[in-house]
Amino acid sequence: MLFDKSKIYILVLLVFFSCGKSTKDKEKMNKIVVAHRGASGYLPEHTMEAKAMAYAMNPDYIEQDLVLSKDNVPIVIHDVYLDDVTNVAQLFPDRKREDGRYYVIDFTFDELQQLKVTERFDPKTGKQYYPQRFPKGKGNFKLHSLQEEIELIQGLNYSTGKNIGIYPEIKNPEFHHKNGKDIAKIVLEILSNYGYTTKEDKCIFQCFDAKELERVRKELKSELFLVQLIEFPEETKELKHFASYADGLGPWYTQILDEKVNDKWKFTSLVAEAHELGLKVHPYTFRADQLKEFSSFDEMMQVLLFEANVDGGFTDFPDKMVSFLNK
Ligand code: G3P
Ligand code: CA
Repeated sequence: MLFDKSKIYILVLLVFFSCGKSTKDKEKMNKIVVAHRGASGYLPEHTMEAKAMAYAMNPDYIEQDLVLSKDNVPIVIHDVYLDDVTNVAQLFPDRKREDGRYYVIDFTFDELQQLKVTERFDPKTGKQYYPQRFPKGKGNFKLHSLQEEIELIQGLNYSTGKNIGIYPEIKNPEFHHKNGKDIAKIVLEILSNYGYTTKEDKCIFQCFDAKELERVRKELKSELFLVQLIEFPEETKELKHFASYADGLGPWYTQILDEKVNDKWKFTSLVAEAHELGLKVHPYTFRADQLKEFSSFDEMMQVLLFEANVDGGFTDFPDKMVSFLNK
């Protein structure tokens, strides 16, 4: 006899496990991990150190929030303000505007590089936003440009053989226009110089401002993968319009959750509607130290990634999301 019973049993088990693995791998491949402001759960957000640490955690993309300096250099920073992540108030006390805030756009790139970056804090109270994270005021972190960060990621892609993408967001384009600056145009040109021009180039371009993102596609003729970020309930009614120029939707994850019935989450129709229109869904932001509706990070991942069926998402803890998907 060619096969005895035990050999057949082993063969069946092998086929069973290999089928299971390929299905799981396929699911995993469809879920993208975006390192939100780098490995910002561990190091001050948007610093080169946070980006290098994120890179080592193997996310699919690393995020860059962008604001222009006075001399039109795209700076990787979350807000148009400087005073909640740097020592600008100590170094340049006379440079605040009437509202008491310090603006990136009022400083040249050279001046910005003199600032020390720290863990996010409330500029009014001086209190650190996430007390369990990297201690405020410690270390010697600096601001940097989009070009410098792309060179870090592309350099690491070269030296490691990996292909980790970038996920830039232009911040507050209307504010930039009011100050005579076209952030979308400047950023698209830099992306193109570094080889990011099409949907195949491992670059996802995101923005909260729908008018500006539509302009990026229609007037500036970008062929990049575009993600429309949303925050407010009324925006969930605009999906059809978003699908006319964007490839994906970036909602706040709470816009996906409806209610918990008998310990099981029910979901809004947002993901199904977006998928119906061909939009990928990448919600923000998964934080292991701010779980709110969930009892563990893994539960949050299970519910949002697999029960709500989103296509990936932004996390301050890329290692935890990657590890969940590898399980
Ligand atoms: O861009 C996705 C996510 O980062 C949106 O939130 O405010 O952290 O930029 P925010
Ligand atoms: Ca962002």
